[in-house]
Amino acid sequence: MAPLVDPDFWRGRAVLLTGHTGFKGAWLALWLQSMGARVTGLADGVPTQPSLYELARVGDGLERDVRADIRDHAALLDAFARHAPEIVIHMAAQSLVRPSFADPRTTYETNVMGTVNVLEAVRATASVRAVVNVTSDKCYDNLTAREPRAFVEDDPKGGHDPYSNSKACAELVADAYLRSFFAVDDGGPRLASARAGNVIGGGDWAADRLIPDIMAGALDGAPIPIRNPDAVRPWQHVLNPLAGYLRLAEGLHASPELQGGWNFGPTLGDARPVRWIADRLTELWPAELRWELDADPPTPHPHEAHFLALDSTKAREQLGWAPVWELDETLAQIVAWYRALGDGADMRDVTLGQIRAFANAPALSLPAPRGPSGS
Ligand SMILES: NC(=O)c1ccc[n+]([C@@H]2O[C@H](COP(=O)([O-])OP(=O)(O)OC[C@H]3O[C@@H](n4cnc5c(N)ncnc54)[C@H](O)[C@@H]3O)[C@@H](O)[C@H]2O)c1
Repeated sequence: MAPLVDPDFWRGRAVLLTGHTGFKGAWLALWLQSMGARVTGLADGVPTQPSLYELARVGDGLERDVRADIRDHAALLDAFARHAPEIVIHMAAQSLVRPSFADPRTTYETNVMGTVNVLEAVRATASVRAVVNVTSDKCYDNLTAREPRAFVEDDPKGGHDPYSNSKACAELVADAYLRSFFAVDDGGPRLASARAGNVIGGGDWAADRLIPDIMAGALDGAPIPIRNPDAVRPWQHVLNPLAGYLRLAEGLHASPELQGGWNFGPTLGDARPVRWIADRLTELWPAELRWELDADPPTPHPHEAHFLALDSTKAREQLGWAPVWELDETLAQIVAWYRALGDGADMRDVTLGQIRAFANAPALSLPAPRGPSGS
């Protein structure tokens, strides 16, 4: 069976990846490097300490490592002109809900105007052929009155909190650019938006996320304070949607019919309460580990959408995409990653090893791929 992601497509290909120093960006930069892509990373700095970017020495395999702020239009024009990418994957963002309450302005400037600036740089750069704009499952309008069902790509965009709303705005921006500038297939750029959420994996140190909190407790041997143990989320390994983004870029490069929005969500069976994840991880961790209800959370947790699930039928049918690692395998890989870290292993080797294992594994019940016209 052909692999989900085609290494031959990526070998030698010029890729510009924004947000490569972040959690998802570092995994994607490594994956692209492992296939021989010529990767330019662009980010304003390294967002956490420690970071996957530093532990896995992501910078070592980049063609260029650019420090620029996506709010700076001129800096982006300059970076695109210098590096002449063929594929652009835009991931740089203020990526967290709680900081979006503390500083909505920076969140909107980064996530909305940052996306405008990236798309303007795309328009100004003749080499660009395919653009994947990464937003979030939170971009959908989570009407409480709505009958709970999984979101499909054409559902209305919205978002209650500034982060979610900024991602909805980024979707509207991408849609306007698609209709206004990229609709005619004249050899110019093709644009798609990718929506996924609740991704987990080794190497995440972002504040306020479940796995970083649990694994920090595991490495310290301290009890783990857990908020919202009954909140149900559709969890998936970070490599699952990243495979979707790569597959989408390959498809866009070949066909203008794949422009538009795409969901990359886990199977509904992988929607589990926080307490289930915490229990499984404490069981899998080799030493004594326990979690407890956080009696004193720092601030009341801001509003979060109650029901979030994505219908990924379109990606399954038109891209042949499906998750590869389901939740049990995902948690086992996470524990293996943090155990290796605790043992002082080379985390570049460990992370590349997980990417290799993922890339060689079959997707879950993968249906036969269909062309965009259903052929
Ligand atoms: N992690 C998740 O669960 C999740 C879920 C849904 C969507 N996403 C989206 O996926 C993308 C990547 O998420 P992540 O978890 O890797 O985020 P992250 O916070 O770990 O990394 C963010 C990246 O963006 C860069 N960045 C932030 N502001 C910037 C600016 N003004 N200029 C240039 N670079 C800037 C950071 O330096 C970093 O490289 C984001 O767009 C995020 O909104 C993530």
